[in-house]
Amino acid sequence: MDKYISVKELEDAALEALPRAVRDYYKSGATEEYSLAENRRAFQRLRIRPKCLVGLKNCDLSTTVLGEKVTMPLGISPTAMQRMAHPDGETANVKAAEAQGVIYTLSTIATSSIEEVADAAPNAVKWFQLYIYNDREVTRKLVMRAEQAGFKALALTVDTPLFGIRRADIRNKFTLPSHLRLANFDGHMSTKIHNAGNGSGLSHYVEGLFDKTLSWDDIKWLKSITKLPIVAKGILRGDDAVKAVEAGCSGILVSNHGARQLDGVPSTIEVLPEIVDAVKDYNVEVYLDGGVTTGTDVYKALVLGAKMVFVGRPALWGLAVGGQDGVQRMLSIFRNELEYTFQIAGTPTVADITTDMVRHESAYSR
Ligand code: FNR
Repeated sequence: MDKYISVKELEDAALEALPRAVRDYYKSGATEEYSLAENRRAFQRLRIRPKCLVGLKNCDLSTTVLGEKVTMPLGISPTAMQRMAHPDGETANVKAAEAQGVIYTLSTIATSSIEEVADAAPNAVKWFQLYIYNDREVTRKLVMRAEQAGFKALALTVDTPLFGIRRADIRNKFTLPSHLRLANFDGHMSTKIHNAGNGSGLSHYVEGLFDKTLSWDDIKWLKSITKLPIVAKGILRGDDAVKAVEAGCSGILVSNHGARQLDGVPSTIEVLPEIVDAVKDYNVEVYLDGGVTTGTDVYKALVLGAKMVFVGRPALWGLAVGGQDGVQRMLSIFRNELEYTFQIAGTPTVADITTDMVRHESAYSR
């Protein structure tokens, strides 16, 4: 794996290796993919302002997330159906997270079950990403199982009343390969994604099962059935962040779902300051994902107020290239880049990061 020295190189290798329908499903954004490109470009518009001669021998990247200690402020966001990338799928991904001491989030629509993932990496800090199904009993059972298996929080995805329009998936009539199953379900819930032959099978699956009528009141229902802290995943507005906290969420994950839901939404790094500001008087942690591919991206998000930064696709690229080893390689590339950034910018620890460390490029073009 040593030959890969950037996340971009892992991405290129993965895109070459994966079958077309899987590759397209993983990489696509919604419709014109304008926001997908913006997720990356917005990071490039921010400039880091290093402090010189700080006299740093070492830096410490460790931090906490909802009280759990992790070795760096980078974790893995939930992405569905990881066994399409590698036969060991989610179990390889979570083992890599465990080996590196970072947080792993398991998707509801995973190809490994909650229990398989817990058994594979009992010591990893694990969150469970929850979609709320029309069938609340199905939803309740998922929550109970995650709680019993030692997951530490629920990341409730709030941006998905239905799936965004992903044109490649429509063209490819995307469906789950027949040897794989949605491992968190059994009984009357299908473990397959049926495709009647029209458009994306995944979109049909979601339209039939996810509860489109969700409102902030449903967080109260969720809180009534679990003691796990709830993270609202998919927030892009300050006022929604406040509603999430007032409904009882302990964390806000600023996310546009990897720009896969609605094209034209802002990049996540652009809206982060608005959200951090909106909830500054509350006891809540704010996180970010979307377009993060380098250590300097992670640093910029920390400067703008994120407590933890997550990556989705980079873990899939690592998985596709080398299973657990590939994901570990991806994480160590980030760790190395982040260490260099901390050292050269003159930042000893995560707690030493201050908002003056980054400026928008427009400040330099006057
Ligand atoms: C996702 N994402 C996602 N989110 C979620 O809440 N549940 C899910 O099952 C999935 N599945 C999924 C599949 C794939 C292929 C992608 C690319 C993304 C969104 C994901 O959690 C995260 O928000 C983004 O991936 C972050 O952007 P980057 O890091 O991929 O740019």
